[in-house]
Amino acid sequence: MSDWTYVRVDKEDEIATVTIDREKKLNALNPDVIGELGEAFETLREDEAVRGIVLTGAGEKAFVAGADIGVLAQMTPTSGVGVSRQGQEVFRKIERFPKPVVAAVGGYALGGGCELALACHLRVASENAQFGLPEVGLGIIPGYGGTIRLARLVGLGRALELTLTGEMVDAERAESIGLVSRVIPRDGFQEGAVDFARKVTKNAPVALEKALEAIYHSLDSNTVEALNYESSLFGLLASTEDMKEGMGAFQEKRKPSFKGR
Ligand code: COA
Repeated sequence: MSDWTYVRVDKEDEIATVTIDREKKLNALNPDVIGELGEAFETLREDEAVRGIVLTGAGEKAFVAGADIGVLAQMTPTSGVGVSRQGQEVFRKIERFPKPVVAAVGGYALGGGCELALACHLRVASENAQFGLPEVGLGIIPGYGGTIRLARLVGLGRALELTLTGEMVDAERAESIGLVSRVIPRDGFQEGAVDFARKVTKNAPVALEKALEAIYHSLDSNTVEALNYESSLFGLLASTEDMKEGMGAFQEKRKPSFKGR
């Protein structure tokens, strides 16, 4: 199913691993890479056998070393808006993806690479991971949602520190500030990331989808509206086979087998 130049998709059981494969340029994001990434996620949305995604970069050196500086250097005020918009739209698609997306960050996650990891639902890091937003050193700002998502995840003070200094943080600090859920040894990192994703995908697929929907919906609405939305999704889940299976399995002291409906 991988018809793309820069994006590879490999499936193992219910997990699809999406690899950004532009290793010689440390997987830097040009418009083609971003476009293909969007297409890959569209395809995986429709694939009922896939219950979760691990997003990673080819090679050990980088997850993604940022937007392609060669492209950015040609920007005009008008085209710059389009450059930002293209990344924002694809990253938003990933953030609102109905199945859990785990970023597996080995090596550099800089600029747009850090923003891409932030758009995923969860992040795990290899011991050699380095996160950073070096944009201000290039005379620009993060333009793929990083000015919004970083502060939501790690708090305003830390987001300001990372954005204004442009300095990198290593895996250990990334874990300590909540930027990643866990650090996994380099040896066996990809398998470790898939194992982590399985901790999520073992749960009821429709419940996972609705949990994501409720959480992200709440970010764009007021408390009363968000609580109403939560209640409606909570009620909706009572109509699913998965709820009957989950509760039935508990009562019968066995493991559930979810069908995703
Ligand atoms: N855009 C375009 N090309 C990039 C890139 C980016 N963001 N990041 C790395 N590359 C390219 C390099 O130009 C180099 O290409 P070349 O071999 O044709 O010269 C190749 O990837 C390898 O990178 P290199 O810089 O030689 O590796 P390094 O180990 O010395 O340094 C980094 C690694 C990540 C520290 C360094 O590449 C870097 O600072 N990259 C830019 C990071 C950045 O500012 N990102 C935000 C952009 S908004």
